[in-house]
Amino acid sequence: SAVADLAGRNVVVSAGGTREPLDPVRYLGNRSSGKQGYALARTAVARGARVTLIAANTTLPDPAGVDVVRVGTAAQLREAVLKAAADADAVVMAAAVADFRPAHYVTGKIKKKDGEEPPPLELVRNPDILAELSTDRQRPGQIVVGFAAETDDVQANGRAKLARKGCDLLVVNEVGEHKAFGSEENEAVVLGADGSETPVPYGPKEDLAELVWTLVAPKFS
Ligand code: PMT
Repeated sequence: SAVADLAGRNVVVSAGGTREPLDPVRYLGNRSSGKQGYALARTAVARGARVTLIAANTTLPDPAGVDVVRVGTAAQLREAVLKAAADADAVVMAAAVADFRPAHYVTGKIKKKDGEEPPPLELVRNPDILAELSTDRQRPGQIVVGFAAETDDVQANGRAKLARKGCDLLVVNEVGEHKAFGSEENEAVVLGADGSETPVPYGPKEDLAELVWTLVAPKFS
């Protein structure tokens, strides 16, 4: 008995975690499984939306009725999201995007050498896709939703992040090695640029996904 409040709407969801290659066998990555983003994609389809899912390094089955675009790095994710966002009514960034990537890609496997210090790991910044989407809306009236993965001072960090990124809604979830990442459940507070604050109790990732769409739908004018 899903509501069809997204009927005729086009939405883009990013999911999973980017990987930044260091050499042919190693990368910098994170613990995102993609489950939260896939739950957003499934629930949006059930509510009538056309959904493009940009999936970074996930191993989950493709959700029925969803266009899935597979990516690896943050740069590839950015390109795919911007392309899909060109005709989207809403973009939800649930993917865990690497803030930094190795400054240099080493074409042969990095070797350890007897008696030598480990090589330094030099990093450079990746572009902030959510901030870019929020500042340069790809379509007039487009709704942009971000996620914030925090380990401490969850509320305060979330508010600051919402202001800095400029999105309409920010889903703030506390993360840890066994919290949010990879699990079936999540718990969050959804902060609105209008000052609103909606707590979402611990429960299935589907429930949080539904709540996000319930907050997004009335914003379409
Ligand atoms: O995939 P699961 O295992 O189900 O876990 C879900 C989750 C914990 C990964 C998810 O709920 C979540 O919190 N996703 C966002 C993770 C993240 O990258 O948070 P952040 O606080 O580092 O980034 C804030 C926002 O900016 C995010 O919307 C992120 O997509 C975006 N971002 C970040 C960096 C960057 N360079 N570009 C971005 O667009």
